[in-house]
Amino acid sequence: MKTETKTNKKQAVLITGASTGIGYATALYLDKAGYKVYASVRKEVDKQKLIKAASSNLTPVIMDVYDEEVVNKAYQQIKTETEGYTFSLVNNAGVSLNGPLELIPYSNIKMLLDVNICGLILVTKTFLPLIRNKKGRIINISSGHGLLAIPDKSVYAASKFAVQAISDSLRVELRPFGVKVSVVVPGKINTNVLGKIIDEREKMIDQAQPETAKLYSTQMEYFDREVKNLPSIEAVEVAKVIAESLNNPKPKAQYLAGPGAKKMKIFARFPRSMRDNMMYKAIYK
Ligand SMILES: NC(=O)c1ccc[n+]([C@@H]2O[C@H](COP(=O)([O-])OP(=O)(O)OC[C@H]3O[C@@H](n4cnc5c(N)ncnc54)[C@H](OP(=O)(O)O)[C@@H]3O)[C@@H](O)[C@H]2O)c1
Repeated sequence: MKTETKTNKKQAVLITGASTGIGYATALYLDKAGYKVYASVRKEVDKQKLIKAASSNLTPVIMDVYDEEVVNKAYQQIKTETEGYTFSLVNNAGVSLNGPLELIPYSNIKMLLDVNICGLILVTKTFLPLIRNKKGRIINISSGHGLLAIPDKSVYAASKFAVQAISDSLRVELRPFGVKVSVVVPGKINTNVLGKIIDEREKMIDQAQPETAKLYSTQMEYFDREVKNLPSIEAVEVAKVIAESLNNPKPKAQYLAGPGAKKMKIFARFPRSMRDNMMYKAIYK
């Protein structure tokens, strides 16, 4: 893969949520490809892990995506260090929660929306002057659940539909300035997120009224079985798609990564009543 694009400019990129999973794989992939990589993490231990694994062209940045002061500080640092580079942003940081709306604690819902929507908006808004001046790109990481909202995923799907909406608006809003915006839609990817979802599910059930949790047990058991059975791909495969969206002179508005995403895209095209009935019968057969 070439890192010097047709304009022959050196490329710098900020990837949020690079401690594990897709963000980690992408940071290392782009580092190997010759990018100047800024990889956002939240813990010192993750910073050290990246320093060990990458070249000296990769700079870990301690940053919580919804801490305004910290994001502004990172902006000032990166702005002064990227003279002569194009600068792009990969909004990858995200959290996931499964569960019926009635059972998910409101504090968890708010935290998810803060990270997946407000955090993405804050980082994008803060870095836009740099991205615009350097004619960089914005790559937003959505999910198959950003194409189709199904039971058990209402809050997560809401956040990923929002990511899709922000991307659709920005694609045209930023076109006069030469800033291209793409969405990468992963299906099921082998990352820590799947373990985190199961842990959160258990905590959620423990905190709920047992009789209320029981009402939803068939649905939850169905989705726990489903997620185990879905085919998955490795995080590095998503990193390759992200690299393609950064490098292609004519990037697509939307990239699907993995079989799960393709399945969701097809299912989303079915009429709503047909989709609802199929889903209902699958759960309560
Ligand atoms: N894995 C999948 O199957 C899948 C499918 C579709 C979409 N996605 C999306 O892909 C993206 C990456 O997910 P992943 O699977 O790689 O999950 P992951 O391994 O859990 O990584 C999530 C990353 O986001 C970071 N993060 C969480 N809250 C943050 C905050 N407030 N500020 C800054 N960073 C924060 C985490 O940092 P800490 O380690 O510090 O918590 C971690 O680096 C997410 O947007 C997710 O929704 C994943």
